[in-house]
Amino acid sequence: MHTHDYILTNGRTLSGDTVDIEIRSGIIDRIVPAGEGDPGDFDSDRQHDANRRLVTPPLIEPHLHLDATQTAGDPSWNKSGTLTEGIEIWDGYKKDISVSDIVDRATRTVEWYVAHGVTRIRTHADVTESSLTTIEALVELRNQLSDIVDIQIVAFPQDGVFTNYNHEALLRESAEMGVDLIGAIPHAEHTREDGVASINLACDLAESFDMGLDLHIDETDDPGSRFTEVLASEAMKRDIGQKTVASHATALHSYPNSYAEKVISLLAESDVSVITNPPDNSVLQGSYDDYPRRRGHTRIDELQEAGVTVGIGHDSVLDPWYHYGVADPLDAAFILVHYAHMAGREDVETLWQMLTEANADVLGIEGYGLQEGTRGSLVVFDAPDGFNALRQQPARTLVVNAGKPVAETEPANSHVYRENGTQSVSFNYE
Ligand code: FE2
Repeated sequence: MHTHDYILTNGRTLSGDTVDIEIRSGIIDRIVPAGEGDPGDFDSDRQHDANRRLVTPPLIEPHLHLDATQTAGDPSWNKSGTLTEGIEIWDGYKKDISVSDIVDRATRTVEWYVAHGVTRIRTHADVTESSLTTIEALVELRNQLSDIVDIQIVAFPQDGVFTNYNHEALLRESAEMGVDLIGAIPHAEHTREDGVASINLACDLAESFDMGLDLHIDETDDPGSRFTEVLASEAMKRDIGQKTVASHATALHSYPNSYAEKVISLLAESDVSVITNPPDNSVLQGSYDDYPRRRGHTRIDELQEAGVTVGIGHDSVLDPWYHYGVADPLDAAFILVHYAHMAGREDVETLWQMLTEANADVLGIEGYGLQEGTRGSLVVFDAPDGFNALRQQPARTLVVNAGKPVAETEPANSHVYRENGTQSVSFNYE
């Protein structure tokens, strides 16, 4: 028996089919109607009866900051709730940062993600930290955890590239240290001209190292912050849109409609994807507003209508920008349900499309999904369908990566004591 063989029986897919899934040599070999699989062909510890629970492809975290994770409150909590104060607190923390500190904190967060069904993560690493300990630590982490998760690293100049004499050199140096993508943060540069120059620099570096691009861009409520158009235009001219991501793009919320339409058309034409990060954007945006207070979120519905791929990320888990989080993509989706008015029944399918296919597309994953011939990875939820999973954010009873079980969680078990006896409680709505 191969160590990357596994059979899942009686799993209910997002489309409602109940199936058996046979994984051989780490690849999905057969998906057949429930009852038609062959458990006898697999060792007893290599099979699991999902009992009509939801099974999906593995989840993906496309936007995260593992170098800063689990530092909330150290050295202080973010009192104003602004992006700027978050950056100031992080500047204080990173002065004494070490490889072991980052690896220890990031490992805990990655293990939480895996327990929630995530087998792929894109993390940013702050390359304005002058020793580049962040890159060293996350490259080491990527190797250490390669048995349970695939990690992509973005060289991310948190404080801007042209805001200090040595930041450009640090970004260039980091590109040779094993990162997978180049980042930028044009709205944090001192001037409009420097912001545009930072986009060109990132594009030049990405092209010369044959890497993708993932920029923090227009993460502000300022309608005058107009860098997304520059990125989309540059990606179009260089024909690199497919490998380019505009993360956040929250100023799109505050643009006049006529200008927003232009930017959205440019994104669609250039094939640049967008990532929205509901946990952070819900607390950071609007923090300078009096009332009415803007939600400050990017225009998900209009982007999708125009054909732009919109992924969904968490951004922060327990750091100066977002104090909460348990490293669960369903948490981010639950926030989006409320925050982006996606509470309609038809939005369930859209949210799952974002959590699965859109995120896979953003990360450039080929061969993703529950199909014969793709990687033998899946997640079983303690819920009967996609709606209940979004509603409850239930335990992931089983996570399989390339035919190997990598996490299991015992579901909660609630009882109510009635006079006529103990009642077992199910939170499902069917
Ligand atoms: Fe971010």
